[in-house]
Amino acid sequence: MAFPATRLRRLRATPVLRELVRETRLSPADMVLPLFVQAGDTRRTPISSLPSIDRLSISAAVEEAGAAAALGLPAVLLFGIPEHKDADGTGAYDDEGIVQLATRAIKDAHPDLVVMTDVCLCEYTDHGHCGLLRADGCVDNDPSVELIARAAVSHARAGADVVAPSDMMDGRIGAVRAALDDEGFGDTPIVAYSAKFASAFYGPFREAAGSAPAFGDRRAYQMDPANGDEALREALLDVQEGADVVMVKPALAYLDVILRVKDATHLPVAAYNVSGEYAMIKAAAAAGALDERAAVLETLTSIRRAGADIVITYHAKDAAGWL
Ligand code: PBG
Repeated sequence: MAFPATRLRRLRATPVLRELVRETRLSPADMVLPLFVQAGDTRRTPISSLPSIDRLSISAAVEEAGAAAALGLPAVLLFGIPEHKDADGTGAYDDEGIVQLATRAIKDAHPDLVVMTDVCLCEYTDHGHCGLLRADGCVDNDPSVELIARAAVSHARAGADVVAPSDMMDGRIGAVRAALDDEGFGDTPIVAYSAKFASAFYGPFREAAGSAPAFGDRRAYQMDPANGDEALREALLDVQEGADVVMVKPALAYLDVILRVKDATHLPVAAYNVSGEYAMIKAAAAAGALDERAAVLETLTSIRRAGADIVITYHAKDAAGWL
């Protein structure tokens, strides 16, 4: 039936009616707050390109995790900034490394909060790449995967509830699963950064983590932004290798990928609303160009509408406070 019998405006007439027919809901329960934890005693170091997000000492991270939990957020995702970096990224798989220490401290103080850890070498290597380098400068896949698996086990040993490998090496999900199982962590879930694109939107994160590659870029391991079918192959391979949750990253320029990955895998899907996406809204709001609260809630809703069950976002505390 067409107009005039059909009038879609009928169900938009009042806030209560709109609420009744709303298809997508946003809740703090779906959001994860990323935290940058730095070695040393400096409690908070601002990150110029990420307003309101700081690098935190372990004690400040424990407080921030408590604030997140108090707002109803179920989980934090930890990134470590070590004191020393080296060619092999040894800080990533050191049982006394920064993420391992922070995980223990946060779990001690807030046992019910889910601690997820980003598993990668790039924050720990002096060259800033996500794995070991061969003599020709190319990232060497298979030996890197062994170290990624060691890092994941070390995080689990420290008490991480969930590990999230973000390196984009081939075969790492299977290797992480096998290593966790061998070490008695058969119940630790893996959130796989399955479709992680070589994106310009990671800029502020690299300032935060000091992890910009010293030479070249990440296009030989992260995905080409032009490819959607390949993202499905990545996600389906990770499912076969044992991923419990698959992730698409970034979120906003890849909403179509989120939708396709959800349809193809039927797994819980996470989307990472990355640092550059956050910085854009913050900058526009600071310039008076848009209403921050409305823009953030609309953005997060769109990521959920596309099919993400979990949204990893630097806006999590603000959004939880508004909801
Ligand atoms: C690194 C990693 C990156 C992000 C999360 N894990 C950056 C990169 O690949 O350079 C980006 C997160 C963000 O931009 O918010 N393995």
